[in-house]
Amino acid sequence: MREKIESLLEEIKTFKAESKDQAEEFRLQLLSKKGKISVLFDEFRTVPNELKKEIGQRLNELRAHAQEKLDILKASFEDREDSPSDLTDLTLPAEPFIPGTHHPLSIIRDEIIDIFSRIGFTVADGPEIEDDWHNFSALNFPKDHPARDMQDTFFISDEIALRTHTSSVQVRLMETTTPPLRSIMPGTVYRNEAISARAHCFFHQVEGLYIDKDVSFADLKQTMLYFAQEMFGKQTQIRLRPSYFPFTEPSAEMDISCTICGGKGCNICKHTGWVEILGCGMVDPNVLENCKIDPLIYSGFAFGMGIERVAMLRYQVNDLRLFSENDVRFLAQFRSAI
Ligand code: PHE
Repeated sequence: MREKIESLLEEIKTFKAESKDQAEEFRLQLLSKKGKISVLFDEFRTVPNELKKEIGQRLNELRAHAQEKLDILKASFEDREDSPSDLTDLTLPAEPFIPGTHHPLSIIRDEIIDIFSRIGFTVADGPEIEDDWHNFSALNFPKDHPARDMQDTFFISDEIALRTHTSSVQVRLMETTTPPLRSIMPGTVYRNEAISARAHCFFHQVEGLYIDKDVSFADLKQTMLYFAQEMFGKQTQIRLRPSYFPFTEPSAEMDISCTICGGKGCNICKHTGWVEILGCGMVDPNVLENCKIDPLIYSGFAFGMGIERVAMLRYQVNDLRLFSENDVRFLAQFRSAI
């Protein structure tokens, strides 16, 4: 019996398995019901009493040893399954790391900021939840005036709403800065509109404001022409049509020559050769007064555009909803030039 135990112990010590299956086979040979160790336990009954203690101890040690060896073998094969197999070629090029892209609206916003910063405009920011004064009253929208209907508003209370334009930031700026001031205000705005290919309940704007002594409509026109040509190409022409905004007088809507057909007429410009791009005008003296700026000393112009609209024209996107659906097949097509 002793010899059998010793020789099995030796066998276990020297056993090497090449695979999980071999280790399992070894386990069956030793520890299954008819396995070598189990058979020894059966034979144990025949061991004379005076040897039972010593042999019993050796047998238990043998079984523990076998179990330990099998555990180690099993663990080593499991480790190997998680780690690269011997077939992994470590000289292969690594998996390419694909970085994300900028959102097209961010790309256009940054370009607009870049264009205006080259002629001295700084960037101003303000809250998206706005009070009546900054979004409407200071901008010459009297209470109950139908002009308020131009912008369907999400009200939070009588006095508080989601801003409908970033003109509210212009008011904040005028209230806290002594002219000259020259800033643009990029940001998200909200309007209670049904969602369609051409309208959304939130979108993004860049508005701009320039106030100094002797600022004229000619300055506005030249600034807008500069912007249009930087954004859409040197061949771009602009056209101003008289319009109405409560906070500017005179007011205009600006068109650019169609970026698709160059003015000849196509579907995008509805065969007119022109597409609307922004609203602008000379700041109404009432607005300056509301913001404690003397209209007899200072004058200024303001403008505002939708970033989505500019992006749609630049990239020929025909559905506004694509910008907020987060579809990577759409988003991955845009790469920033700056
Ligand atoms: N605030 C206007 C809008 O959201 C745009 C605008 C800004 C028009 C400044 C004129 C001057 O529609």
